[in-house]
Amino acid sequence: MPKLNSAADLERLRREINAARDPRRRCITVCSGTGCLASRSQEVVTALQKELAGRGLQDKIDLRRTGCYGFCEQGPIVVIEPDGSCYLRARPKDVPEIVSKTLLDGQIITRLLYEDPQTHQRIGRFEDIPFYKHQKRLLLAANAMLDPKRIDDYIAIGGYSALAKGLFKMKPERVLDQVKLSGLRGRGGGGFPTGKKWETTRNAPDEPKYVIVNADEGDPGAYMDRSLLEGNPHSVLEGLILGGYAIGASEGFIYVRQEYPLAVENTRLALAQAEEYGLLGRNILGSDFDFTVRIHRGAGAFVSGESSALMSSIEGRVGEPRPKYIHTAVKGLWDKPSCLNNVETWANVPLIINHGAEWFAGLGTKNSKGTKIFSLVGKVNNTGLVEVPMGMTLRQIVYDIGGGVPGGKRLKAVQTGGPSGGVIPESMLDLPVDFDELYQAGSMMGSGGLIVMDEDTCMVDMARYYVDFLAHESCGKCVPCREGLRQMLHILNRITVGEGKESDIELLEELSQFMQEAALCALGTTAPNPVLSTIRHFRAEYEDHIRDKRCPAGVCKSLIAYTINPDVCIGCGTCAKNCPTEAITKDEERDVYLIDQDQCIKCGSCLAVCPPKVRAIVKGPPGVVLERA
Ligand SMILES: Cc1cc2nc3c(=O)[nH]c(=O)nc-3n(C[C@H](O)[C@H](O)[C@H](O)COP(=O)(O)O)c2cc1C
Ligand code: FES
Repeated sequence: MPKLNSAADLERLRREINAARDPRRRCITVCSGTGCLASRSQEVVTALQKELAGRGLQDKIDLRRTGCYGFCEQGPIVVIEPDGSCYLRARPKDVPEIVSKTLLDGQIITRLLYEDPQTHQRIGRFEDIPFYKHQKRLLLAANAMLDPKRIDDYIAIGGYSALAKGLFKMKPERVLDQVKLSGLRGRGGGGFPTGKKWETTRNAPDEPKYVIVNADEGDPGAYMDRSLLEGNPHSVLEGLILGGYAIGASEGFIYVRQEYPLAVENTRLALAQAEEYGLLGRNILGSDFDFTVRIHRGAGAFVSGESSALMSSIEGRVGEPRPKYIHTAVKGLWDKPSCLNNVETWANVPLIINHGAEWFAGLGTKNSKGTKIFSLVGKVNNTGLVEVPMGMTLRQIVYDIGGGVPGGKRLKAVQTGGPSGGVIPESMLDLPVDFDELYQAGSMMGSGGLIVMDEDTCMVDMARYYVDFLAHESCGKCVPCREGLRQMLHILNRITVGEGKESDIELLEELSQFMQEAALCALGTTAPNPVLSTIRHFRAEYEDHIRDKRCPAGVCKSLIAYTINPDVCIGCGTCAKNCPTEAITKDEERDVYLIDQDQCIKCGSCLAVCPPKVRAIVKGPPGVVLERA
């Protein structure tokens, strides 16, 4: 690789890369993000390599492995450029047909196209699929355009031009000013103004200063940061180098969890390639700016994502938080000024420098600018990673992008912000995605988890799930968090097994207030959010569990029982055959099937297999005996 000694060298290289590429030439891209790899996309790549070679097409048609497209549940995703035809759930056996029909003959293979679940209409082009059509993919779009293992792909689409602009056309203060003026707020949870944090670190009197990428991503179900780092590591790196330049740091760290092996691999490769080109290291692009980056692999504890815990972990100590009377921006890593930002925050920086702060500030709402990536999961037809402009409503995300709730069920709530967030009930679904609006509604943007819940979700059980997660993840250093979470879990467990007391709701509220005021770090101070928001919006459901010993959603096992209605049972025995504990037997005398309640583990298999035309299994409160009419 030639060393680039100036911005002009970079531009020359970009022209050369693009001149060697014919934009009309066909390119078949196969998603090779973690989701699609799990659906065996590598086998599709291998089959394509063989098929293209077998037909002597390897030099005529390009094959590119890309990062995550976001629609992982439909993977492996194959897109044929330049026309953008999109095949979903492609298998190695489909490959000969893809090559002969689509690549050579221009025909579309209908069965591999997206099928609209409502209209059953097939959609051919990637950007016409509703899941993509309503998104604004400023960050994720590049994932589909490049092979993350090839720096030339990033350079070809304008990569590192923001760095060259920053280094040669802007003073560090001006780069910082642009980030401030853009209104960018941290995507890691709290939404702290990024420019302000950069300024604090820059102005802190001590040296050296550090810049750090937070790619710990411990929220259950969230994978935005993983997909960005895996799919476009250079965008994060470019943002980090610009941050170092603006803040006055010559050393950066990328803290990424060990459970993200592909993200680690692609980031390592990105660092090595950037260094070879002279985009990292000494005298970047011939300027007098030096910058190096080290990767630190985290051991996967949720609390290690907290700023002071993360820095402690980089120092080689236990990843536990410390009191932050002095912020880490002033006294962080090895007690030196350290600016920590989330993966998505860093990835926005090159966009701001390239397009200008005004452009970025023109996107979104008054106090929340740009776009936000969410991992849309739960009871929703289309699940995956979605990037939307700030200000889009939750309803638009769930219905226009997510395609609504499956099975005609009623939407009950959406949970945002992961374990530190809360629930937003259906009645508030027109709330825009905005840091402050979500906070006022008792939830938070968090890092971007968005879980859709339907009528079959029990809100008490959901709060119990998050408290259980946090009780396990609490580092135990401070009493309010360690003991508060244990007590909360104890109370919630009691409620969900029908042993709740009249005073339990008030006790939960009192404990919450105590934790919010006294816990050491934001794990403890935000831990009550799932509990408080469910009490606020679904108090009646808590009361049903406590007073009537009833779980209205039919989730809490101790409060439900399965019985067989003898009047409609046709005696087919399907339920008995599928019962894992042999709890269902036939009462030959009365010619009916019965469920032994002591043996039943309430797995619901009988309900699932009872023929829809029969529907003899009844899920209801325990103690009800059904007799023939
Ligand atoms: C328990 C806990 C876990 C956290 N985990 C993450 C994480 O995985 N990724 C992240 O970017 N921020 C996480 N944060 C927030 C960080 O402490 C910090 O505020 C953030 O990385 C700053 O980046 P930003 O300003 O770009 O949002 C966590 C905070 C807490 C309290
Ligand atoms: S990994 Fe392929 S779409 Fe996400």
